Amino acid sequence: MTAAGDLGPSDFGAVPPGVVSLEDWAPLARARLAPEAHAYLAGHACDGVTARRNRDAFLAAEIVPRLLLDQDPAPAATLFGRSIAAPILVAPVAHQGLFHPLAERATAMAASAVDTILVASTLSTLSLEAIAEAADGGTQWFQLYVQPDRGFTDALVARAEAAGYAALVITVDAPVFGVRNVEQRAGFRLPAPLAPANLRDAPADGGDGSLAALLARRPTWSDVAHIVARTRLPVLLKGILDVEDAARAIDLGAAGVIVSNHGGRVLDLAPAALDRLAPIRDRLGDRPTILLDGGVRRGGDVHVALSRGADAVMVGRPLIEALAVGGPLGVAHALRTLIDEWAITLALAGPPRRSDARDQ
Ligand code: FNR
Ligand code: LAC
Repeated sequence: MTAAGDLGPSDFGAVPPGVVSLEDWAPLARARLAPEAHAYLAGHACDGVTARRNRDAFLAAEIVPRLLLDQDPAPAATLFGRSIAAPILVAPVAHQGLFHPLAERATAMAASAVDTILVASTLSTLSLEAIAEAADGGTQWFQLYVQPDRGFTDALVARAEAAGYAALVITVDAPVFGVRNVEQRAGFRLPAPLAPANLRDAPADGGDGSLAALLARRPTWSDVAHIVARTRLPVLLKGILDVEDAARAIDLGAAGVIVSNHGGRVLDLAPAALDRLAPIRDRLGDRPTILLDGGVRRGGDVHVALSRGADAVMVGRPLIEALAVGGPLGVAHALRTLIDEWAITLALAGPPRRSDARDQ
């Protein structure tokens, strides 16, 4: 089956008139989704301080343009030897069946169509194999939530390798979910039929669901070392904000880190991801791969992140708002919009340079 083989024209979705930027999808998604699903998508931890900081950090940034350059900056990027249309990836977002009947199949098709990378969550509605099939030759990375059972975690990684995933993203900032008051107020609960397919055969974890039981089984550096030693895929640790954590990840053999606070969904009062980028790049030097996510909404934001040391960025909520409203076409349109904005920023400002960040 090709990615789109069994779909009719109406399955692809549509882009409503007037949608010209990523943020235009947000009010449409709020109107379209059930309030509980919307609370899960758009919500944050506690009071949303960190979620706001992510955005405010970009709004405070400045780009001083370099003009009259005799060059043709291209928006393309290369990550782990694979070239993509732009340094803009689809962040891992769990449970996409909440937002569209095609679930991750839609985001996989969209990412593949615009020639970028989908990072598929461990907690995807569809199995990692079904998502890889939907990408139809496009590049995908697998986001791993370390499971309480080491053998089951190893099996998940082996499945991702066998299905052709090109990198492994271990998310390390969410050993427990944050205090999700927005979801609690809306009464969000994951509907049973949307239980993550990847975990269907997971052994019973023996915990009683309490916080103490969860914490007793939370992943540690030794789990990361174990995975890095076993897999042949490049490993990135997602959720890093501290320079010494970043250095430790690289010392353990990780290929890079994703500077992120999970979109402000876990630890409220954590700093803006953007504000942690330059110190982490300074500590790690040029070689390790560094991505950033949290609050990226504009092509100018991509420029700011790259000038502060990122190799690429990931985008979460706006792409899933586009999914909820516009299906696969909506996601592709949102990605294309951001890539085009990034190309325009390059044309107006010149290529991002680390020295720009230091000047600020
Ligand atoms: C997430 N995020 C996330 N991260 C991860 O590593 N694994 C996951 O399963 C999920 N699930 C998830 C669900 C939903 C609904 C959202 C909104 C986010 C976090 C995500 O990868 C990313 O870090 C943030 O979304 C980035 O911030 P923005 O772009 O949403 O501001
Ligand atoms: C979230 C988890 C699934 O942010 O990562 O909802």
